[in-house]
Amino acid sequence: MLIDGHGRTVDYLRVSVTERCNFRCQYCMPEKPFSWVPRENLLSFEELFLFMKVAIDEGVNKIRITGGEPLLREGLDTFIKMIHDYKPDIDLALTTNAFLLPQTAQKLKDAGLKRLNISLDSLKPEVAQQIAQKDVLAQVLKGIDKALEVGLGVKINMVPLKGINDNEILDIMDYCKARNIKVRFIEYMENAHASKSIEGMHGREILEKVKERHTINALGREGASPSFNYVLDDGYEFGLIDPHKHDFCENCNRIRLTAEGNLIPCLYFDEAMSIAKAVKEGDIEAASQVLAKVLKDKPKENRWSEDNPNEEDISTRAFYETGG
Ligand code: GTP
Ligand code: 5AD
Ligand code: SF4
Repeated sequence: MLIDGHGRTVDYLRVSVTERCNFRCQYCMPEKPFSWVPRENLLSFEELFLFMKVAIDEGVNKIRITGGEPLLREGLDTFIKMIHDYKPDIDLALTTNAFLLPQTAQKLKDAGLKRLNISLDSLKPEVAQQIAQKDVLAQVLKGIDKALEVGLGVKINMVPLKGINDNEILDIMDYCKARNIKVRFIEYMENAHASKSIEGMHGREILEKVKERHTINALGREGASPSFNYVLDDGYEFGLIDPHKHDFCENCNRIRLTAEGNLIPCLYFDEAMSIAKAVKEGDIEAASQVLAKVLKDKPKENRWSEDNPNEEDISTRAFYETGG
């Protein structure tokens, strides 16, 4: 079992396979990053997998593949099959913008992927384009349909932004309800790479919008998930991810690995330790030692403020590097 310096059990590893993305979501990377990590600095799937086996053997039972946009990395289905074949009962999931799903969903399912979390911020083509800075909606909706058709589990993530898509909270909920899939509304997490012009909604404001049409009842957190769940009178369940309240940090069960091999203990902070040398040398013992050190020093909680964000609260860690 993996236990961190605050006594929390860590059993969830998020693995980013690329920082590159075919979108430019305003809350993530409004302009092309100054320079992409050169491809030669990326760890191969075999190298990433060597570390993942160490983590799985020591107690990880949930793996989520992230990006940037993970479906941009060639051979991803083979990587997924490697993980699935090593431990078929692992909770194996992927977070994606869905753009490439029409042509990849079946292969991912066949490789052993169980679940997808998909970003859907608007059902209006021009608003989706404004947020992603590309005309994406039609292809994203096709991607969601395809994922459901092939039998992958699907959840939707929406980041409501004031004056942009805040009037679509109920519409996105209806869209998800009609397909019997869960939506999680996410508070925008301020970060130095996002567009300066956007403003997120507080969890309380998001719930107020839902209450305009529905009666809601609180269900609580599902295990260590950052999502706090609610149920409508008709039984439909949705979630709210509200990192500005740090209460889910208490039970934080996750660490993140970037495509370059940086092991990151908390989404908010820049601190990381590299496993690249260890896995390139095939040194399992060294990889295990880096893992132990990162766990020991894992921060107690993030620093997104409950009140008005100010400069000090802005994380400099790029979401496109960690996959959220
Ligand atoms: P499930 O396995 O379905 O519960 O997925 P997940 O919520 O772990 O993953 P997903 O990639 O869909 O993340 C949803 C949102 O939660 C994203 O905005 C993430 O950035 C955010 N999130 C996930 N883990 C953490 C965390 O440890 N801290 C904070 N602050 N946000 C997180
Ligand atoms: N704040 C909140 N959520 C974010 N995501 C990306 N950047 C941010 C941010 N700054 C979300 C995306 C995706 C998930 C992995 O993280 O919408 O669904
Ligand atoms: Fe790409 Fe996801 Fe960032 Fe949007 S949020 S730019 S889809 S990595």
